[in-house]
Amino acid sequence: MSSPTRILRLDASANPGLSGSRRLGDELLARLQRQYPASEIRRRDLNQQAQFIDAGWISANLSAADERDEAARQRLGASDELIAELQWADHIVLTTPMYNFSVPATLKAWIDQVCRAGITFRYTSDGPVGLLAGKRADIVITTGGVPLGSPADFLSGYLRQIFAFIGIDEVDIIAAERMNLDSATSVERALRQIDARYPAKAA
Ligand SMILES: Cc1cc2nc3c(=O)[nH]c(=O)nc-3n(C[C@H](O)[C@H](O)[C@H](O)COP(=O)(O)O)c2cc1C
Repeated sequence: MSSPTRILRLDASANPGLSGSRRLGDELLARLQRQYPASEIRRRDLNQQAQFIDAGWISANLSAADERDEAARQRLGASDELIAELQWADHIVLTTPMYNFSVPATLKAWIDQVCRAGITFRYTSDGPVGLLAGKRADIVITTGGVPLGSPADFLSGYLRQIFAFIGIDEVDIIAAERMNLDSATSVERALRQIDARYPAKAA
């Protein structure tokens, strides 16, 4: 793996104080930082200031960039900022729980803000092409009872699809599944996955 220098950390759990996915994300990030001490890190809690798209946003997004008035530019301001963060990063660490078999609404709101034709993907005669190539992502997922890869998992495949759609297809998923059954074992398994990816340096 090439050394990441710009890491974007995104967290989606609505339960920050007790979040298992965030704690695992902390461990993963600590390992990354230890391996690549020169890395710069930016963080975003997706529960803060999540914005949903609406008619004004869609209309502004469909208009030509050089024809947007001030109101249209402002309407896309949050989206522009989120996309700029993604463009800046060469490594994304996303932590998320499964909510109702899929992503938390705040993560979906972020996805709607960052998938923009002409900026993060473009249409071609062969179908859409992602424009954020050359980046990689680690996604930490926690679930209460649903195993990833099971028919009720509409989360992990969806996130792979979204990241590939915008050009990020080097994606690793670290999972603490079925936390409501035996959280200690689930966390231990996830920590082993993190360890395999980013081995702790020998003392
Ligand atoms: C609103 C809500 C919906 C949930 N839906 C699911 C679900 O569909 N399937 C599942 O396995 N767990 C579900 N869970 C359980 C969480 O995925 C699980 O507790 C996870 O470990 C929480 O991660 P966190 O500690 O990082 O917030 C849900 C939890 C909440 C709060």
